[in-house]
Order: sequence, then C-alpha cells, then structure tokens
Amino acid sequence: MKRIVVIALVAAALAAILLAYMFFIHPQYVVPRRVLRVGTSPDFPPFEYISPGGEIVGIDIDLIKALAKRLGYEVEIVSMSFDGLIPALVNNQIDVIASGLTITSERAEVVSFTIPYWDADQAIIVARNSNFRPKGLEDLVDKIVGVGSGTTAEGLLTDFVKDTGKNIDVKSYDSYVLAVKDLVNGRLDAVVIDTPVARSFAESYDIVVSCIVETGEKYGLAVRKNDTELLNNLNKVLEEFLKSKEWQEIINKHAG
Ligand code: ARG
Repeated sequence: MKRIVVIALVAAALAAILLAYMFFIHPQYVVPRRVLRVGTSPDFPPFEYISPGGEIVGIDIDLIKALAKRLGYEVEIVSMSFDGLIPALVNNQIDVIASGLTITSERAEVVSFTIPYWDADQAIIVARNSNFRPKGLEDLVDKIVGVGSGTTAEGLLTDFVKDTGKNIDVKSYDSYVLAVKDLVNGRLDAVVIDTPVARSFAESYDIVVSCIVETGEKYGLAVRKNDTELLNNLNKVLEEFLKSKEWQEIINKHAG
C-alpha cells in the first residue's frame, strides 16, 4: 500500500516537473497561444514605418506588442493602405488597428476605440526650398495639396472646400511617404499631415512645417464593435502601460 502511494507521488512529481519544464521552454505546447492580427499602414513615422532592414516598426508596433504580451497573445502585423484598415477590421481580416488612428464619432459608429494614447493636430508642410509658407487652410486655396487617403487630414480639406465653396486641389495618396516625396519633387504645393508625423518626416526629407491647424485629435486602438472582451482587456493593460517606463522608452526609441 505504502509503495503504491510513493510511486503515485513520484509519478505526479515527475509529471509536474515535465509540465513546468514545457511551460517555460515551450509554453505554446502547454497554453495554446492566441494570435492577434494587427493591421497598420507603415507610412507614418514614428508610429509605423519601414526600418532600413525592411521591417515594420514604430511606436504603435511596440505598443501593441507590449499590450498583447500582457494579455497572452502573439502578434501578427498585417500591412495595408490606411483606408483599407477599417473595412479589414469589420470584415474580420484583422483584430486590431494600430495605425495612428484618430478617434472620431463617425468611425466610432463602425468600430470600438480604446482609451486614447496620443494627442495630435494637423500640420501644413511645404518643401524647404519653396517660398510658399501658408499660415492656415485659407492659404491653400487654388493650391495642389496632398493628404493620406481616408485620413482626418483629407476630411479637414474636403470639409473646408464644402463649407467655404472655395477650391483646393486635394490629391489623396495611399501612402504618406509618396505624398511627401511628391512635395519634395515640387509636384505638390503642400501636404497636410498629423503634427508628430510632420516632425518625423522633417528629419529625413527637405520639408518644413509651415503652420499648424489645431484639430485636437486623439489616437486610439480600434477593435470590432462586438469584441468587448478584447476591448476591455486592452483598456485595462493600456491604462497601466501609459504610466510605465517601458512606454517612455518606446517613445524615446522612435521619436527621441
Ligand atoms: N490620424 C489620422 C487619421 O486617423 C491619420 C492616420 C494615418 N495613419 C497611417 N498609419 N497612415 O486619419
């Protein structure tokens, strides 16, 4: 009788050791890892951009990876043009948008936003070597102005045109990188783009911020409307993360 108990205990202890070993070395065999598909448009430094090595990196990428890790998810980054992100989320091709996405009431009718993690306004940028220095939207009348397709910058310009009846030749780009290149090449008179991204582009392209239009935007991560569990979990870890040293380090790394 005693022997049976000893053998059972030894067997149980061995099984526990084996499980613990598996858990630390190959956790995916013990706890199946869930994958979080994260959609982003990597034309938007310092939030999402292509590194010299060809990798998608940035504040948003490090942010969602840190949050996902805390929630036990593996992250899969899915790259697409900005205006494809909300349709991809709604159609269940991705689970989260991390793309410098401004929280707006129109978008909030289709997707659910987390608490905000960044503030931004719109900048009007111009080529350094031009002598055009607009002081506001009014100065863009009858000019050729580039924006990202589906962005709040595009909305700002189309609303201005609608409200004033004045003309701006708005060119919408799938990629802000191409818009900035056209600005440098002289194909555009100006580009309207989020302030932190304007500052980042100004470090690597011959462009300057001519003025700022205060729009008071806030970025949030977006999930599907019915994904309330994911939303609540993201909010829980995001709120804590925004106070962390790790968050400051991420910001310094990409925008320092
Ligand atoms: N914040 C702006 C918006 O929500 C622009 C975001 C563009 N993001 C990007 N990754 N291209 O419309």
